[in-house]
Amino acid sequence: MSHLVAPSLLSANFLNLEREIEMLNRSEADWIHLDIMDGVFVPNISFGFPVLNLLKERTHKLLDVHLMIVQPEKFIPEIAAAGAAYMNVHYEACTHLHRVVSEIRNHGMKAGVTLNPHTPVLLLEDIVKDLDMVLLMSVNPGFGGQKFIEHSVEKVRVLKNLILRKNARALIEVDGGVNLETGKKLVDAGADVLVAGNFVFASDDPVQTIHKLKSL
Ligand code: DX5
Ligand code: ZN
Repeated sequence: MSHLVAPSLLSANFLNLEREIEMLNRSEADWIHLDIMDGVFVPNISFGFPVLNLLKERTHKLLDVHLMIVQPEKFIPEIAAAGAAYMNVHYEACTHLHRVVSEIRNHGMKAGVTLNPHTPVLLLEDIVKDLDMVLLMSVNPGFGGQKFIEHSVEKVRVLKNLILRKNARALIEVDGGVNLETGKKLVDAGADVLVAGNFVFASDDPVQTIHKLKSL
């Protein structure tokens, strides 16, 4: 499978959201990545259901929801109702991760678990077989436009080995500081999905930038 590209709406122009969604619809983007923050789990607040609930009417791209919130299990039914294909919860936010993952799948979504940069991949040893995706943060979550943490490339390699060793099927998604240079390293290391926010939306021609990320 060639890799997928999931532009992160966090870096879009929110006064022109309709135009931004139309741009993504015209582009080769595979998914739309949606960053929900609560100001508690991460030091920032983004957008929530008023935005999320509008999207499924406006796009056929898969919605990939990344919850940077405490107690993400509280919102599983609402995220499902918003049309999310993937619901990603942070490992660091879930005491009963196996239960949360099961609930996500019971609501008809694919389950993703996200790791902060400091969280070792090997902590997923006993859950990776139950996952549809692992989302590796390559910046500290909370803001777009940050510098890529190089060690993330090695984490992709370690995760790929774990997935193969466990005969698991989880996709590897990477989020934070992705551009053509870091994206290439990640794909070569085994990443399946690249999230890109600032690199896409701050570029002169986002459709072309998405094309370049797809062509890595
Ligand atoms: C950061 C978010 C990312 C963010 C990525 O907390 O999870 O999805 O939008 O932005 P860039 O690609 O600009 O680092
Ligand atoms: Zn994200």
